[in-house]
Amino acid sequence: MLERGLNQINRLALKHVGRRWMDYIVSNTMTDLNRRVNGFLWTYELKALVVDIRSEADGVKTFTLLPNQHWKHMQAGQHVEVSAQINGETVSRFYSLSPMQRGRFTITVKRKDGGLLSNWLHDHVRQGATLTLHHPEGQFTYRQQPKVLFVCAGSGITPCYSIVSDLLQGKSAPDMALYAQFARKADTIFAKDLAQWKTRFDVRVAYSHEAHEPGQLLHTSSLLEQYPDLLERDVYLCGPQGFMDQVIAMLTQAGYDLSRLHCERFVAQSFEQAPDETFDPVGAEVYFQHIDAHVCLNEADRGRTLMEIADSRKLNLEVGCRQGMCGTCKLTLKSGQASGNVLGHAVYLCTAYPASRKLVLDT
Ligand SMILES: Cc1cc2nc3c(=O)[nH]c(=O)nc-3n(C[C@H](O)[C@H](O)[C@H](O)COP(=O)(O)OP(=O)(O)OC[C@H]3O[C@@H](n4cnc5c(N)ncnc54)[C@H](O)[C@@H]3O)c2cc1C
Ligand code: FES
Repeated sequence: MLERGLNQINRLALKHVGRRWMDYIVSNTMTDLNRRVNGFLWTYELKALVVDIRSEADGVKTFTLLPNQHWKHMQAGQHVEVSAQINGETVSRFYSLSPMQRGRFTITVKRKDGGLLSNWLHDHVRQGATLTLHHPEGQFTYRQQPKVLFVCAGSGITPCYSIVSDLLQGKSAPDMALYAQFARKADTIFAKDLAQWKTRFDVRVAYSHEAHEPGQLLHTSSLLEQYPDLLERDVYLCGPQGFMDQVIAMLTQAGYDLSRLHCERFVAQSFEQAPDETFDPVGAEVYFQHIDAHVCLNEADRGRTLMEIADSRKLNLEVGCRQGMCGTCKLTLKSGQASGNVLGHAVYLCTAYPASRKLVLDT
């Protein structure tokens, strides 16, 4: 009862006082007592109140979140790190964000067999609960391309959903197409929105585990028949690793320019491999085109990841987990080669190494 009342006050305060003023008030009135009474607003942490939970598909729930005054800017397609105390340990995972509407956003979480945080969110989080977040990050965002194709599978639809929703809310959306694949009909995430979007642009939904018409699923031999203007489109890809590998192989075979492929990966692979010992980095050059920084490699750079190389020159590149998971550090390979954590032309700097005498990276 007390908690519900407090939640109501917090919602009203954020709505009527606004985040900026709340930040000002809270930072000038912070005391231990305030913190204890209302740890949602009187805190230096970014927190969010769960204001709604709905079932999206089998084993998939969407949580609507109202963040406190520490929330800053986000871009559609980015993700947020959610942390929780589970069995006395802090567990953190990333979830893609829907665009902000009326001060709220959603995350859509698919249950993983044996998974810690996804099951905890599904089983223990109720309306009125508070989650601890970190600031949004990620490079899987729309960059004003005139023609785009979103290709996604399973929960990989979430960042694509975010970008498409945002673009459809704007004045002029680009020429879009979306291919979404699920195992079965019951697994379809955002089914209602997909049905509605079909009336506005080219949306195709395919099921890998159900009877389907020939040509419904993406196929290497018919990719260019399915999407005749594929080579003109920037492709945004997200899904399970096997699916992404398959799509990248199909695109490569179709002669697609992989520097126009934008990937978001949900699962970290094992990137424990050391850099290629046969490649001598001394004297090689890495050009970070987006900040116009040339780096000439020396003895100290042996064994360093591209992020460590950038850090050692104080280039202040965007970085998140440093484990090859979140994609915050991801840049696009424009020319040359990198080894380690590379997906198509996406190079995860924190877990990738230079592998050619000249390497050009850009956003
Ligand atoms: C950028 C990004 C965005 C993402 N966006 C979303 C999103 O929008 N929606 C979404 O649902 N997910 C998203 N994810 C995935 C999400 O972050 C989690 O990885 C996912 O929810 C699983 O977390 P978990 O804690 O439940 O599973 P974990 O506990 O991490 O387990 C994952 C899997 O590994 C297995 N496992 C765990 N421990 C072991 C072990 N010791 N030995 C063997 N197997 C083990 C589990 O059985 C499970 O199958 C995103 C990930 C990234 C990196
Ligand atoms: S993938 Fe997270 S910082 Fe590199």
